[in-house]
Amino acid sequence: MDRIKISGGNELRGIIPISGAKNAALPLMIASLLTSDTLTLENVPHLADVEGLMRILGNHGVDIAVNGRRERQEDGYSRTIHFTCRTIADTTAPYELVSKMRASFWVIGPLLAREGRARVSLPGGCAIGTRPVDLFLEGLAALGAEIEIDGGYVNATAPKGGLIGNHYRFPKVSVGATHVMMMAATLANGTTVIENAAREPEVVDLANCLNAMGAKVSGAGTKTITVEGVTSLSGARHRVLPDRIETGTYAMAVAMTGGDVTLEGTDGALLENALDTLRQAGAEITETPSGLRVVRNGNGIQPVDVVTEPFPGFPTDLQAQFMALMTRSSGVSHITETIFENRFMHVQELARLGARISLSGQMARVEGVSRLKGAPVMATDLRASVSLVIAGLAAEGETVVNRVYHLDRGFERLEEKLTRCGAIVQRVSE
Ligand code: UD1
Repeated sequence: MDRIKISGGNELRGIIPISGAKNAALPLMIASLLTSDTLTLENVPHLADVEGLMRILGNHGVDIAVNGRRERQEDGYSRTIHFTCRTIADTTAPYELVSKMRASFWVIGPLLAREGRARVSLPGGCAIGTRPVDLFLEGLAALGAEIEIDGGYVNATAPKGGLIGNHYRFPKVSVGATHVMMMAATLANGTTVIENAAREPEVVDLANCLNAMGAKVSGAGTKTITVEGVTSLSGARHRVLPDRIETGTYAMAVAMTGGDVTLEGTDGALLENALDTLRQAGAEITETPSGLRVVRNGNGIQPVDVVTEPFPGFPTDLQAQFMALMTRSSGVSHITETIFENRFMHVQELARLGARISLSGQMARVEGVSRLKGAPVMATDLRASVSLVIAGLAAEGETVVNRVYHLDRGFERLEEKLTRCGAIVQRVSE
């Protein structure tokens, strides 16, 4: 198992290219199941989750060519990948594959829409709460699907003539369930209105791609999405939007260490709330022609309270990183997690570096300390692990982050990007 060794204390200075968004790439790849033509995606990040989903799609009959070639390209940042699913080879998504990544459960929408049936294992993924799938199933049932749970699998069957458009209101905002409902509705008979839809930029990106494929989706980015069903979808070429979580993570890293970094190829409009929060904490952030410039020179880190919320609120996927930053603030901050009930596993690891954090229910009280000290720590989930890296960059001495396979799921070439900006970060393979 790989580990990452960090010698803390260096400021970050330079340029960090921001990759395509993992959380957009995954649903976009899954959308390739909706058509027999080729869906070409540009700017797909090279990540373990993307590779895992390619295996799952391959099992369903998707032919995948990276940069026009069939073999994998092991170097180079985000890639162009062609996905062609002439026929669905298998409507079952097995436990061995789905249990490794929660987003793979989302194949249920396209499989049901195109083939009229799907058998998909209940998911696994990061251990950040119970993460049920009730909203997905309720939404698909509203489109006429018959749903049965049997032996850890969801068996879903569409009515004879296909799914039927309907009006459905999600009782709770869910990104994944919005993606799935939107994809399923593209091929349904009639019009579907999805209320209380997730408004995340990744939902908009998927809607844009579906429309390029011939779907009729409107309202993505608002709480109400309308999908007029069509009989078939065609291929398209689509560029994955920049990763707002990666952007926010590196912005927080610079706020933590001090320095001056340009985050290239990203767009501040994707994470306004998080950037405003960082400004309050003392970072200077400006839009530049190539992306965002983040500077913190000399001034200290101010305590700021945050509450995670669905978009456009402060993202839960940046909560752990922001907590790392707040461990060095000049006062007390409160961080409240409202999306996932068990997303504080980084707290005890940050404490190993000297952070003072106390938990009470869904709220963490973080008392800033004047210094952190390097220590061995354990990565527990994707975003939590990168918070330990950020803390390690500012800690005195050596921090070793164990179980970095979590990081590889969501951060493309993290060590390289940080090293190029002056950090001392090294991957050690056992
Ligand atoms: C997506 C993101 C993840 C991010 C999360 C919230 C991807 C691959 N993952 O995850 O990085 O942290 O959005 O922004 O894009 N819920 C239910 N029933 C359901 C579905 C969800 O109760 O059927 C609950 C969840 O337990 C959670 C909340 O709804 O409390 C939000 O979950 P959801 O938006 O679905 O998260 P994901 O789509 O899994």
